[in-house]
Amino acid sequence: MGVQSSSMSYTELEQGYQGLKQSRPFFYIGEEEHGLANKALKDECKEVDAGKQVVVGICAMEKKSQSKPMREILTRLEEFEYLRTLVFSEEVILNEPVEKWPLCDCLISFHSKGFPLAKAIDYSDLRKPFNINDLYMQYDIKTGESLLITHRLRKRRKVYSILENEGIELPRYAVLDRESEHPSELVESEDHVEVDGEVFNKPFVEKPISAEDHNIYIYYPTSAGGGSQRLFRKIGSRSSVYSSESRIRKSGSFIYEEFMPTDGTDVKVYTVGPDYAHAEARKSPALDGKVERDKEGKEVRYPVILSNAEKLIARKVCLAFKQTVCGFDLLRANGKSLRVCDVNGFSFVKTQ
Ligand SMILES: Nc1ncnc2c1ncn2[C@@H]1O[C@H](COP(=O)(O)OP(=O)(O)O)[C@@H](O)[C@H]1O
Ligand SMILES: [Mg+2]
Repeated sequence: MGVQSSSMSYTELEQGYQGLKQSRPFFYIGEEEHGLANKALKDECKEVDAGKQVVVGICAMEKKSQSKPMREILTRLEEFEYLRTLVFSEEVILNEPVEKWPLCDCLISFHSKGFPLAKAIDYSDLRKPFNINDLYMQYDIKTGESLLITHRLRKRRKVYSILENEGIELPRYAVLDRESEHPSELVESEDHVEVDGEVFNKPFVEKPISAEDHNIYIYYPTSAGGGSQRLFRKIGSRSSVYSSESRIRKSGSFIYEEFMPTDGTDVKVYTVGPDYAHAEARKSPALDGKVERDKEGKEVRYPVILSNAEKLIARKVCLAFKQTVCGFDLLRANGKSLRVCDVNGFSFVKTQ
């Protein structure tokens, strides 16, 4: 199957889904492994398998597992006769030992704020369900609460080094490490910085090395009036503000990277397995910081058709991070040069 893109409209998808609903889809596991040529044996196994449902466990924080997009996903999964979904309660996840967690054959589990990732890994090691999104790799993408602060701070670097190892292009970058025993050398002048000898002319991007810290600054060259744009996690109608500050932050460790000029949008890609990716574009928070919303208050998104090169990137990201469901940000610079700037793991297409 080729990689799908967003060329299929939501209406078409919904029609397909309604059709699926009428035909009551089902499947049973192990058919291929058995290699059942003999019909008698096949019927016998069918009888044994008749009542066998694959239990799909959802293990995530309540905010995620009770969210609207997750409820939509569950409604669709429940249409499959041979699937049963089982949402682990947050109370159980947080307070019960993993031995007491419910059993499942297949696990959809992902980290978000407050989620005990180490515990989920223990559960997975104990019961060995089929994991949709690899849990160990989530340490590299997200913060595990039990991890040391030094580990936590490495996230963006780790994501970047995985991308590099896979030959996926990312913006040219350097790490300014102020925490380690051998801090990086920094030279700052009006229109550029040098990190360990690597020069970044303005405009450049400054990202905190903790992937959980979304306070990303973009510095403008003096020729464009100087100052900087301060990005943050969306608050209502704003995603960034302009500041007249032209000097870089003086404490903490950061990634400095070249600013990739785009058409003013970020391409948000969501994979479902290596062969399927949905993409949509949204106004970049790096512009004026005013979030575009429609009449219902939803953020405006633009349709995107992924090129073959982009589909290949989606495949590589999904496989490299071992996350079947994986969201990431793609910068389309000058319409053709592609750079991945952020990998988020399991994420829903935003509804607000
Ligand atoms: N190198 C870059 N060039 C241009 N814009 C960038 C670059 N890196 C990030 N951005 C912009 O900043 C936004 C936030 O950066 P990102 O790395 O996705 O961090 P996070 O989502 O964790 O806050 C991106 O969506 C994009 O609009
Ligand atoms: Mg991002």
